[in-house]
Amino acid sequence: MKKYNTIACIVSVVLLMSTLSACSQISNNLDGEESLETQDTTIGQEDTTTTQDIQASITTISTDVTTTVSNNLTVLDESSTSSVVTDDDSSTLSTTTASAIPVDGIASSSGSVVQSISLSKTSVTIEVGESDMPIVTMYPTDADDKSEIWNTSNPQIATVDDKGNITGISEGSCTVTVTAKANTSVYAEISVTVVAKQETQQNTDDTVTEPTYIDGILIVNKTYALPSDYNPYDGDIAPEVQEAFNTMEQDARAEGLTLYISSGFRSYDYQAGLYERYAQRDGYDKADTYSARAGHSEHQTGLCFDLNTIDDSFADTAEGKWVAENCYKYGFIVRYPEGKEDKTGYQYEPWHLRYLGVELATKVYNSGLCLEEYLGITSEYAD
Ligand code: DAL
Ligand code: ZN
Repeated sequence: MKKYNTIACIVSVVLLMSTLSACSQISNNLDGEESLETQDTTIGQEDTTTTQDIQASITTISTDVTTTVSNNLTVLDESSTSSVVTDDDSSTLSTTTASAIPVDGIASSSGSVVQSISLSKTSVTIEVGESDMPIVTMYPTDADDKSEIWNTSNPQIATVDDKGNITGISEGSCTVTVTAKANTSVYAEISVTVVAKQETQQNTDDTVTEPTYIDGILIVNKTYALPSDYNPYDGDIAPEVQEAFNTMEQDARAEGLTLYISSGFRSYDYQAGLYERYAQRDGYDKADTYSARAGHSEHQTGLCFDLNTIDDSFADTAEGKWVAENCYKYGFIVRYPEGKEDKTGYQYEPWHLRYLGVELATKVYNSGLCLEEYLGITSEYAD
């Protein structure tokens, strides 16, 4: 059996060499292409090697024939360079074939195989139910087959689909592996950590049905909320408040100062989104120091507004100083004064003015108290 195999092997090589000889005629006509004569020499040197060595050489030559011929738009018969190599038990090791070449001249195969894999991330942390998908790059980038095989070391912790989409199933750690289908010795690993789902707080108060008036004054703070649909001035501030602002703005302008409303009425839903964005950025506890939860913002009353740049620096501007000393004359108070954070529930906001009417605003201003102190009320969330 071994003898016949050796004979078959020699016949195969001879057949191949004669085919290559014919093909080299073709390659000699091509500009800039490598001559197959070099490959003929290689085959000669491989005569005494194993059948697998011969098969590897044949594969290389066969591929070069394919590429070279394609550039010359010559179509080879599919069987023209076929060669079968067998091992001792007569099973077929491989069949190498120069494929038929598309007549548009585009080679159907470059013959390169994936040699390495790079990942956009080698570790991911996801919540239960959350997904992430690293970006995979296989090298060489022009490899014929860049198919990926994805596996997880523990599908109870994280699953992965055939596109590399990793999904957290339960808390824990596992490893996700991507392997090159064309070369399974090449793979890359991602360490996956799955953490518990972070609960988003429900910070909306939709149970309130009536606004709260204390001593005839509409009060909205952390203790007192508005109904979610409260919107008495059709999405705007009250006309009386706008008028008072216009007068104040004109008087300020006469002194060379510029005042403008940068935030007026805010709906319940708008405030809900605003607060949530701040909370996602700074955390809920921090957000509660400067942003009202939905239903708890005075902006929903239509009786307040923010002036100019909403920034601490406003207090030190000429406008900020003028407003602090004069706004009561137009019916406004600085609603969240400096030093009253524990009473109002909010940090100092020199830009936020609340309309109370000239008489009450003057009394509050002269008292030196914040509105909570003046009315003897709290500003605290129930939870
Ligand atoms: N910044 C104030 C407290 C509000 O959000 O209404
Ligand atoms: Zn404000």
